[in-house]
Amino acid sequence: MFIKGIGRTKFGALNEEAPALLYSAILGAVRDARIGPDDIGACIVSNFIGAQLENRAHMNSLIPCLLPGFDKPCIRVESACASGGAALWTATKMLGEFDNILVVGVEKMSAAKSSAVTGALASAGDVESEQRQGVVFPAAYALMASEYFARYGRSPADLARVALKSHHNANLNPLAHFYHKTVRLQDIENSPVVCSPLRLLDCSPISDGAAALVLSRARAGPRDVRILSCEMATDVIALSQRPDLTSSRVSRTAAKRAFDAAGIGRDDVDLAQVHDCFTINELISLESMGFCEPGAAPQLDTSLGGPLPVNTDGGLKADGHPIGASGIAQLTKLVLQLRQEAGARQVRDARIGLAHNIGGSGGSAVVSILKGGPDV
Ligand code: COA
Repeated sequence: MFIKGIGRTKFGALNEEAPALLYSAILGAVRDARIGPDDIGACIVSNFIGAQLENRAHMNSLIPCLLPGFDKPCIRVESACASGGAALWTATKMLGEFDNILVVGVEKMSAAKSSAVTGALASAGDVESEQRQGVVFPAAYALMASEYFARYGRSPADLARVALKSHHNANLNPLAHFYHKTVRLQDIENSPVVCSPLRLLDCSPISDGAAALVLSRARAGPRDVRILSCEMATDVIALSQRPDLTSSRVSRTAAKRAFDAAGIGRDDVDLAQVHDCFTINELISLESMGFCEPGAAPQLDTSLGGPLPVNTDGGLKADGHPIGASGIAQLTKLVLQLRQEAGARQVRDARIGLAHNIGGSGGSAVVSILKGGPDV
């Protein structure tokens, strides 16, 4: 299985509505793949809260409006913030039936009030033990951060360094939500508390955007990147049912499956896109996927020039987090890197990349491993 084409919009508070965002990402991916709409056998659309925020639920049926005459199977896939990863996973299972599948994700969030967005996002959590108790997402991840600090003697300074790196990388990515926003360590440490210990600059923003991929059964040329593996796992939805908030069981399981299926080890990975909806989650996820011991992620060098560059384009934190698009955008970033086309944020000699996409506070996760280069 190969990724033949990629497309994405800028992320941020944008003027365009969901259909225009979808169109722009699809056009980019189809042109990049050098195919026409007739070559697409099926389409998977990823979206999370279009129904709540825009009263737009039947998004798969938008595709024929954007690609006139298109009448192939289109389905919508939803798995909260892992919707993009789940759409990709679904496409990999369907690829035996089709030569090319279009996978596209979109979310339009900025037109709604923050309170409405926060409420809609909270629908990814447990109703009884979380939503009815006011445990919205910043609160859920704040609980994880507090427990992580207590267990491993870590502090907000460890989170601030994650945010600093992400904002640095986003400044190299013209499509990022926070491209052109200068963020210094003291800006992070003095930003308003959202839910203690998490501050504003520990949070991913409310973004609009879309991203698309063309998946193909056969390799057509050296720019096509091989999907070594794409694996999904699920876990109980409520934090109160999990034995340990300082590690992510669903990430551990999905990563183990993905590494086993790819037949490679953690040391083989040249770069990773890790689901950093809140800074604490980048640390917990790296540990859970086996890149270091529990509690040791703050010591990893994840900068662009380091041994394991993480979130090279700014991550969800600073590139942006238009939920349905985020997991697909992670793959577009890896493909650029593995084609050696990532410009100022290019990781030298990148051959193998990993994408990690989590739903909610860890109820679902998808880990994908890609390989690029002439001999894949
Ligand atoms: N990081 C950095 N800056 C941010 C930001 C973020 N996450 N969110 C907002 N800002 C900035 C805005 O750009 C704006 O800056 P300006 O005054 O220079 O223009 C300022 O902060 C105020 O923005 P506003 O939109 O009013 O913020 P808000 O208070 O409505 O929302 C959060 C802030 C943190 C509550 C919101 O971004 C949020 O809910 N994030 C988490 C989203 C989430 O849970 N996603 C799912 C994860 S599982």
